[in-house]
Amino acid sequence: MIISTNAVLFDEIQSETLVVGVSKHPENTTKWEAFLSYFGEHILEWVKSGDISSDLKKIVKVPVANKETVKRILFVGIGDRKQLTQENIREAFGLVGKELLSSKPESVAVWIPSFTSDSTADADVAYLAAEGLGMGSFTYEGYKTTSNVPDYYLPAIELLTDVDTEEVVSYFEVGSIYADAVNEARILVNTPGNVLTSTQLGEYARELGETYEFETEILGKKEIEELGMGALLAVNQGSVEEPRLIVLKYQATEAWEDVIALVGKGITFDTGGYSIKTKTGIVGMKGDMGGAAAVLGAMQIIGELRPNKNVIAVIASTDNMISGNAFKPDDVITSMSGKTIEILNTDAEGRLVLADAVTYAKQQGANYIVDVATLTGGVITALGYDKTGALTNDEEFFETFMESSLETGEFVWRLPLTENDKKRIRKSDVADLNNSPGSDGHMIFGGGFVGEFVENTPWIHLDIAGTSDTKSAHDFGPKGGTGVMVRTLATLVERMADEE
Ligand code: BES
Ligand code: ZN
Ligand code: ZN
Repeated sequence: MIISTNAVLFDEIQSETLVVGVSKHPENTTKWEAFLSYFGEHILEWVKSGDISSDLKKIVKVPVANKETVKRILFVGIGDRKQLTQENIREAFGLVGKELLSSKPESVAVWIPSFTSDSTADADVAYLAAEGLGMGSFTYEGYKTTSNVPDYYLPAIELLTDVDTEEVVSYFEVGSIYADAVNEARILVNTPGNVLTSTQLGEYARELGETYEFETEILGKKEIEELGMGALLAVNQGSVEEPRLIVLKYQATEAWEDVIALVGKGITFDTGGYSIKTKTGIVGMKGDMGGAAAVLGAMQIIGELRPNKNVIAVIASTDNMISGNAFKPDDVITSMSGKTIEILNTDAEGRLVLADAVTYAKQQGANYIVDVATLTGGVITALGYDKTGALTNDEEFFETFMESSLETGEFVWRLPLTENDKKRIRKSDVADLNNSPGSDGHMIFGGGFVGEFVENTPWIHLDIAGTSDTKSAHDFGPKGGTGVMVRTLATLVERMADEE
């Protein structure tokens, strides 16, 4: 994302648009005098009069006269530096990204004035700004043949830094790596089910694996049958598309130990099967692979940053269709683990494919498991569209996870999973488990079902049915796929690597 860096020599700026973060009392920043003397003391008047606002997320565009390269300055208010949260900086620069998307400058320089000579603070800010810029400037045009919105990609950015250029630049790059991966996940979620089939998702993962030299296995139907993945196969039974089990291993240490598994639901379209969805409920179900997208996005970051932690990604992918062959309510199936399952609702398919994916992950030596899935409408009823729901069986692991989510600003709220809930999941006259104990509190049943296959391995379940897709634009991007949990999963892996 960066073309060049410049230790704030204003007369050497190469770009036509200069973005300046303006906080309360900009006169306390280290290079403010130099800035004013280059661009003109009148800017100080505008700051004083409030025409250039330091209010958080206020953007003011000012033309620049008589300079060779810089044609305009885009001031973004970042408020009082003392009260500023990390999320504030991210949001402010998310909005800058959106502004750049609409004004489409050819070249952009970014300068966030420094208050101290503390390069760590500047590096943090650079990371947050890059993340916001990258996500905010995301756009998805789909397949319009006569789009009136030309594609625009954020140009490479000229970063102006006050202190320790190298550290600040490398953090800025990390921020853009994070944003790029989020945007990739968004594209996957937005891609329609006739294009992004399980086969295509497998191909995407294969390419990702090649790029980052992961040990990659994309298992087809025959191999899935050989593994005895009766739950994944049952969901796939009505489809003309083969299922895929996508496996990416990132090995950081000599021994394959202390492994964290990221397990994703990759339903490329969910009709509900014979427990068919309504004509309104079915629209949008191309996004039922949001968990898979989150895992692939996280793997992209892991591939770029190469943390010191062994990671295995396991994605179970198929569509959920009806046909003469499709599985039905009352069917009893046998999962890879050997546990039998009574099907009460074919629309509760996510937990089925996750069951086999989790069993596979355990067999591959997973010591920690995080599963991510657009699993239930229940999580939306419980928490709305802006909170990811979680379950866990391990307090310590969950604490590390929550620290990561706090860092990324992706809100997660835990629900309980009680013995009584487990009892209801295990209640069946004909099998070990049933896949739909009821519609009361059913986010818990969905995740709890997956937990039956996790057993005692430290585990976190993330239900992103509400957060994976948005109906309206937000500070970090347009409506559609959000790429939720990409950043939190990658941050979790980075944190666990640091702990070692
Ligand atoms: N893919 C859906 C969950 C979903 C709902 C995702 C809304 C995104 C938005 C899942 O497979 C499903 O159909 N769940 C059912 C489970 C029920 C039948 C037990 C649900 O939540 O209604
Ligand atoms: Zn379903
Ligand atoms: Zn589903």
